[in-house]
Amino acid sequence: MTSDNQQVVFSGVQPSGNLTIGNYLGAIRNFAAFSEAYKCYYCVVDMHAITVRQVPAELRRRTYETLALYIACGLDPNKNTLYVQSHVPAHAELAWILNCYTMFGELSRMTQFKDKSAKHADNVNAGLFTYPTLMAADILLYQTDRVPVGVDQQQHIEIARDIAVRFNGVYGDTFTVPEGIISEHGKKIMSLADPTKKMSKSDENVNAVVYILDNKDDILRKFRRAVTDSDTVVRFGEGKDGINNLMTIYSCFTDKSMEEIEREFDGRGYGDFKSAVGEVCADALAPVRAEFDRLMADKAYLEDVMQKGAQDAAYNARKTLSKVKRKVGFTTL
Ligand code: TRP
Repeated sequence: MTSDNQQVVFSGVQPSGNLTIGNYLGAIRNFAAFSEAYKCYYCVVDMHAITVRQVPAELRRRTYETLALYIACGLDPNKNTLYVQSHVPAHAELAWILNCYTMFGELSRMTQFKDKSAKHADNVNAGLFTYPTLMAADILLYQTDRVPVGVDQQQHIEIARDIAVRFNGVYGDTFTVPEGIISEHGKKIMSLADPTKKMSKSDENVNAVVYILDNKDDILRKFRRAVTDSDTVVRFGEGKDGINNLMTIYSCFTDKSMEEIEREFDGRGYGDFKSAVGEVCADALAPVRAEFDRLMADKAYLEDVMQKGAQDAAYNARKTLSKVKRKVGFTTL
């Protein structure tokens, strides 16, 4: 909590790869709703991104793009602190300290580390291993109460809580113990090509993934090609992973329940349904894309947002960091 008792929300998105409708429905779309009641920090986590190898010019471009996308998805820079992680050195400083209160064993158990080290076997670096402590630092620096994330980040929220509790246990109350908000809607959007796998921005099959910034034709085509079963009835059920996924996506964009969707498409085939899913998705994303294009043409504005966001974040982060340094016994000048 902040000193004026306002609750704090923090979340981060990596500027690596294009964001998918899974990122949109499961996370970003829900961020704007918090800004009325909470003090909100939404960070572009470029330091996390370099745990896997990046092309420098692309990382730089995607950092701007992620910030632009935050704003295009409805985050008002005057109501939210939008900033870039590497612009606030307190993240790196606290991450180092927290590394010394995080156990090798608990980091070894992280499923994301296991997955990513299998995928990038030639670059299993220490940063990939300590990724969760940097994420804990992000969250704990701002005395965060709530962390809205997709379900794949649940384990990282748990370890951030464990680190906070451990530190508080040794030094007395220092950190707010954060709680995850795992979005109900769009909990898990699956690949359109293999609906047993999560939709992933790094999928090599372009038809498997719908990106937030895809144009209408691409969106319609991808949904038309989505893999489904050999049944013909639009019904939510076991063994119908493809249809279940399309129904989930349709439900997220229209707020209709599964029963309503079944009724709406009663007697109509999969083809009709797939076109309808494509249409609602394309319609919802069109204004986001238009605003994104407008923002990307105005770098000066984006830099101004980054600058102000970093200043505000740094100011608030310093309070926690000074407290932590004092508690662990660092000398001050
Ligand atoms: N690890 C998160 C992801 O890949 C991104 C992230 C970094 C984050 N720091 C965070 C999310 C702090 C929430 C809070 O999605």
